[in-house]
Amino acid sequence: MNLKLLIYRARVRGVPVYCCFLLLLYILYKQIFHPKLKHADCVPQHLQQYVKFNEKFMWEPCELQSAEISKLASTIELLNYERTVFQTQKYGIVTSKTNMLVVQVHRDVERLQYLIVSLAQVRDVESVLLVFSHSYYDDRINKLVSGITFCRFMQIFYPYSLQLYPNKFPGIDPDDCVSTAGRTKRFCSSRDGRLTEHKHHWWWKANFIFNNLDWSDTFKGTVVFLQEDDYVLPDLLYMLRYMTRSQAYLPGLHLLSFGRPRAKDLDFDVLSVSSWHPPFDKGLAFNKSLWHKISAVSSYYCLYDDLSWSYSLLNAFRKFNEGHVDMVATQMPRVVSTSTFPSGRAAMQQIALWLVGARMFPSNVKAVMLYSSTGRVNSGVKPPPRGNGGWGDLRDHLLCLDPLMSTTTSNTNDMSATTYSQTTTKAADYITVAQHKMNMSIADLRNMNFK
Ligand SMILES: *[C@@H]1O[C@H](CO)[C@@H](O)[C@H](O)[C@H]1NC(C)=O
Ligand SMILES: *[C@@H]1O[C@H](CO)[C@@H](O)[C@H](O)[C@H]1NC(C)=O
Repeated sequence: MNLKLLIYRARVRGVPVYCCFLLLLYILYKQIFHPKLKHADCVPQHLQQYVKFNEKFMWEPCELQSAEISKLASTIELLNYERTVFQTQKYGIVTSKTNMLVVQVHRDVERLQYLIVSLAQVRDVESVLLVFSHSYYDDRINKLVSGITFCRFMQIFYPYSLQLYPNKFPGIDPDDCVSTAGRTKRFCSSRDGRLTEHKHHWWWKANFIFNNLDWSDTFKGTVVFLQEDDYVLPDLLYMLRYMTRSQAYLPGLHLLSFGRPRAKDLDFDVLSVSSWHPPFDKGLAFNKSLWHKISAVSSYYCLYDDLSWSYSLLNAFRKFNEGHVDMVATQMPRVVSTSTFPSGRAAMQQIALWLVGARMFPSNVKAVMLYSSTGRVNSGVKPPPRGNGGWGDLRDHLLCLDPLMSTTTSNTNDMSATTYSQTTTKAADYITVAQHKMNMSIADLRNMNFK
């Protein structure tokens, strides 16, 4: 557009000069201070295949009939039993030293697709195993995941999801105070299955990957925990190497954290050492040694009356001999939450702007610890003595304490050998409803056409 001509026309129509001038200034200001990267600039051509859902994508309401639910339950049981790792032909088999990135997925596919785009750009990603743990089974999500070609991946499915138990515990049970009808009854347990699912799923998934994978017994790698609404930076695994190395120098560092709330002027080359507490729960990472210690105090996770997995974990850490767990964290987050943005797409564009000129892949990294005159700063952040509530139901406690009991995960191939313990107490009866015995042969199940 010819600017001179535009101004001339405006002048002819009697618009004062200063208006044109102000407009011009405004346009310049927008260009300089709020430049917008185009979608194509942020998602390289070869990764555009992972972007399938636009910002307006909505799930249509879908209520499964009980026959469909039991089919789905069998499918999920089979998939969790098979635990197939894909892309091993290209990237080799998984060993007990392979690091894992584990993503907890519900159904925010719009954000998930950008997480996948960001993972694809992580240097060295071909060395890890990507695990997707789903609490919602849908062909569209599965198709998005199974299109991954940049590293090895596998999918596991949370077997006590709301999708499989829409109208009974662990879903929304008529015995809950807040039932689907929104009624509040007098003698009932105040739980909301929609809120308890996340903490259950986190725990189940951690149990599954540390105990039930073929290499779990001898697993020596690190597991990085992610969520569908995270976005990772390209030097995530590069920094992981530094952080693992710092563990050797500073004994007692058992936790790694890649995410903290973003702030201005953070250094890409600084690792900070302090005792762990939320909100350092984005991109939390640890290995099986710490998992053993956590499992030993699992009741402090499972009985803690709080819906948040990270505060429950903090409560469990309080029961360690040291009373806390030290972590090493990247000062500049390498895992950024996209949930504070209107959409995954908006987040990705903003993050791409932040990263313009960023000094990722630092060649020197220093670990810092905060001291004050009274000793180490924040050496014992205490959670509130009582949790924030929502997790007071005995049924939730019991399911959490034994999350894997009905998954067919034994290493024997004999499906019929899976036996379920008979329980007699009233509370435990609630849990056993979650079991479904495999009555079909594997071949039958494989041929089953599940929609
Ligand atoms: C886990 O990491 C710690 C360092 O924090 C190390 O001492 C330990 O050997 C590791 N455990 C396994 C099973 O690799
Ligand atoms: C499972 O199989 C057994 C025998 O093979 C049969 O008696 C039983 O009815 C079956 N159960 C279901 C739910 O199909």
